[in-house]
Amino acid sequence: MTLSTKLLSSVFLGWLFSSTAFAAPDINAGKESAGMCFSCHGAEGNSTNSNFPTLAGQKPGYLANQLRAFRDGARDNAMMKNMTSSLSDDDINNLAAYFASLKSNSAGGNAALAEQGKSKASMCFGCHGSEAKGMGVTPQLAGQHPAYLQRQLHAFKDGTRKNGSMRGIAGMLSDEDIKAVSEYMGSLK
Ligand code: HEC
Ligand code: HEC
Repeated sequence: MTLSTKLLSSVFLGWLFSSTAFAAPDINAGKESAGMCFSCHGAEGNSTNSNFPTLAGQKPGYLANQLRAFRDGARDNAMMKNMTSSLSDDDINNLAAYFASLKSNSAGGNAALAEQGKSKASMCFGCHGSEAKGMGVTPQLAGQHPAYLQRQLHAFKDGTRKNGSMRGIAGMLSDEDIKAVSEYMGSLK
């Protein structure tokens, strides 16, 4: 090796080892810190209480975005602010990868209301995926607790949860539409 190729390769290796920002998420590290989440979000992220959303099977990009939003105050919730205040970006990516790797149970929904909500749901699939399983930064809605979905749709509509696309969409839905479409989404597997 000439001196210049040695120099070049050491610069290249230095760059490789310093670029930890691109490190792949570590599912096992995420699993180790996820125990503190189960008390509210259910064992393995399958919540049995509609106060708390199911995290199992959720899209990793969406989960990471929400955890950063709670930590940085862009999404306002006191419990989740507390839970995320000491998490690093790596911790967040690891937790997101872990919960995304789990299988979700469907919460189910009221059948009559779900039938009513079906027509409105056609507005949602373009962004949330054809089976409402989420795409990248849009969440899976299929099988999520209807009461939780309903609360989030009201929060988007009144602006307490901030998102441009969802504010527009929720603004087009009446309270009855919100209830029906939430039951429909919750009833999907
Ligand atoms: C003390 C109860 C509690 C604990 C413990 C808790 N959470 Fe939460 N979490 C909540 C509540 C309540 C919400 C719903 C907030 C809202 O309505 O906006 C939530 C929402 C979330 C969301 C948003 C999900 C979505 O569909 O938008 C994520 C992601 C999340 N929590 C991850 C975690 C992780 C990861 C942990 C563990 C590090 C954790 N939570 C621990 C109460 C808790
Ligand atoms: C133009 C794209 C778009 C369309 C159409 C759309 N959404 Fe969304 N939705 C989003 C994005 C992006 C987010 C994530 C917002 C965030 O990061 O806080 C979201 C988030 C949500 C959430 C929050 C879920 C959670 O776990 O907290 C609900 C509920 C929701 N959408 C319901 C719906 C319903 C119901 C429809 C159809 C009536 C719909 N969306 C149509 C883009 C869209």
